Amino acid sequence: MSDMPNAARGNTISTRAALPFSQACENNREPILSALRELLTDSKCVLEIGSGTGQHSVYFAPRLPHLSWQTSDIPANHAAIHAWQQQYPADNVQPPLALDLTSLDDIRAVTAQPYDAVFTANTLHIVSWDLVLRLLGVAGSVLPAGGLFIAYGPFNEHGDYTSASNRQFDAALQARGVGSAIRDIEAVTAAAEQIQLYLIDRYAMPANNQLLVFQKQPDTL
Ligand SMILES: C[S@@+](CC[C@H](N)C(=O)[O-])C[C@H]1O[C@@H](n2cnc3c(N)ncnc32)[C@H](O)[C@@H]1O
Repeated sequence: MSDMPNAARGNTISTRAALPFSQACENNREPILSALRELLTDSKCVLEIGSGTGQHSVYFAPRLPHLSWQTSDIPANHAAIHAWQQQYPADNVQPPLALDLTSLDDIRAVTAQPYDAVFTANTLHIVSWDLVLRLLGVAGSVLPAGGLFIAYGPFNEHGDYTSASNRQFDAALQARGVGSAIRDIEAVTAAAEQIQLYLIDRYAMPANNQLLVFQKQPDTL
């Protein structure tokens, strides 16, 4: 596959498995898993926001058997997630919760449950900035002090693209006219800090993506 900077570049129907299929998930799952193995050693319950096809959930959960992986997405994606989970069952992966970030009812229902980590891949550049703030808010409210919010995707740095392919990708995102855009790390970090989520680590990922790791301010008193 060419150096299309990352995911998001559309899902197709796989004739091989007859499941909704994301090639990007296949490409990025191993580097992401490698980071998650380090980061989630002590986690018991992870909320994934924007699970998409569900491919990440069925790959990560059985390889992180010490924790429970809770998927979520807008209802339109639930059939795909169920299908992947049926094809690749694992005891510790949970069927999707309805979480449309435009729905305050969904947010209230999801945030009623605590999690010790929140993971999201390739969502921050898809949803509008207002919904990025809501997504951060969900993470901030479900996490305890010390909990991790982990976000994978393409990001700009210091107001600039990190690659020509990301510049091209951003033009396509912005042409959608729904508020999609590659986000500045500095803007995400500043917004996260407003809700006590602090950037503590960054992993460089293939195809000009990054994994950002935020931690809810640990209790110090
Ligand atoms: C590019 S896909 C990424 C899917 C998957 N995480 C991956 O890495 O392949 C963007 C995801 O954002 C989700 N999304 C879009 N709008 C949303 C909203 N309003 N609320 C919650 N999720 C949303 C989509 O349903 C989709 O799963």
